[in-house]
Amino acid sequence: MGWFYCVVTGVLALASLGAACTPSVTTVSGTHAPATVCSGDLIFSDDFNEFDLEKWQHENTLAGGGHWEFQYYNNNRTNSFTNNGLLHIRPSLIEGQFGSPFMTSGHLNIEGGAPADRCTDPRWWGCERTGSTTNILNPIKSARIRTVNSFSFRYGCVEVRAKLPAGDWLWPAIWLRPAFNAYGTWPASGEIDLVESRGNRDMLLNDVHIGTQEARSTLHYGPYSALNGWEKAHWLKRNLEGYDTQFHRYQLIWAPDFIRFSIDDEEVGRAVPGSGGFWEFGGFNTNPNIENPWRFGSKMAPFDQKFYIIMNVAVGGVSGYFPDGVTNPTPKPWLNGSPTAATDFWNGRKDWLPTWNLDVNDGEDASLQVDYVRVWAL
Ligand SMILES: *[C@@H]1O[C@H](CO)[C@@H](O)[C@H](O)[C@H]1NC(C)=O
Repeated sequence: MGWFYCVVTGVLALASLGAACTPSVTTVSGTHAPATVCSGDLIFSDDFNEFDLEKWQHENTLAGGGHWEFQYYNNNRTNSFTNNGLLHIRPSLIEGQFGSPFMTSGHLNIEGGAPADRCTDPRWWGCERTGSTTNILNPIKSARIRTVNSFSFRYGCVEVRAKLPAGDWLWPAIWLRPAFNAYGTWPASGEIDLVESRGNRDMLLNDVHIGTQEARSTLHYGPYSALNGWEKAHWLKRNLEGYDTQFHRYQLIWAPDFIRFSIDDEEVGRAVPGSGGFWEFGGFNTNPNIENPWRFGSKMAPFDQKFYIIMNVAVGGVSGYFPDGVTNPTPKPWLNGSPTAATDFWNGRKDWLPTWNLDVNDGEDASLQVDYVRVWAL
């Protein structure tokens, strides 16, 4: 029975502690899910002593995550590997693989024939792109891995011990997505962002450091993409040292009546919906013209279905995650409204590339390093 008996079984009553198997509200599925689940069981774990691709499926896409981010996610040991018990997700330059003329004129079709080579996200020209001088091919390669086939679960406790990357415009994330979109496509079926940050070591917005000092946790949920209640379920914890300097334990307690984020056992924030559920929590109930997709779910809906785990390092993007008005030691090289954002970013590499330290220790500064991922049943 782990992580303090899954944080005292979701801070509920600890009944029948002596029983051989106390039934759990946690449910699981996937090729690496246990056949039976008892309360407090460790139901998924990876210590990254080896890179188990049966657990972690790579994304293979140029799509840019809906924000026109600048990376090409691929399955390549330059960008994702384990070494000395740590998983590394590390960005690299596409120039090193294809040469720079290719970026402005080459054609990439990343759809492969083997099951592991299939393009995983065709949206936004995610499987095939042609570079031009104004719209270069994705200049950065990186990795996003997920337990989409191996493990998904509903309710439980998650702890990920990780060190976040440093380097300008890097966007690491450890998060969960719904396995079956039971309430429809994003964000109707929810999204649980355990931790996200920005790799800039010294970036200010209105005099506030918004780079490596901040770890953010967020829930996304809403009836359609333009209506998302994330601002009511968004928290951050500041660490003046920077989350890139030490390993920290990023923790989630996901119970049938609340979701709580913590770092190193200190609460970052929690969402506790009332009887009106996340519909009311998000304030959507004030508009009678929108149909509630969660009306037949529990009050935790959409967070009452199975989710799987994702880890990635993204770069840039035009959605405003990196606001235009920031003060950084070197200026932000693209505007979020620019139709040539990826090209502008690449043209500014003399400023950002030195901050990534890619040549030092296998690029560990710019890497998301993960010591372990553990999930316990409530
Ligand atoms: C993996 O990435 C490296 C570095 O970019 C590149 O040289 C190599 O060709 C890639 N391998 C494959 C199979 O694409």
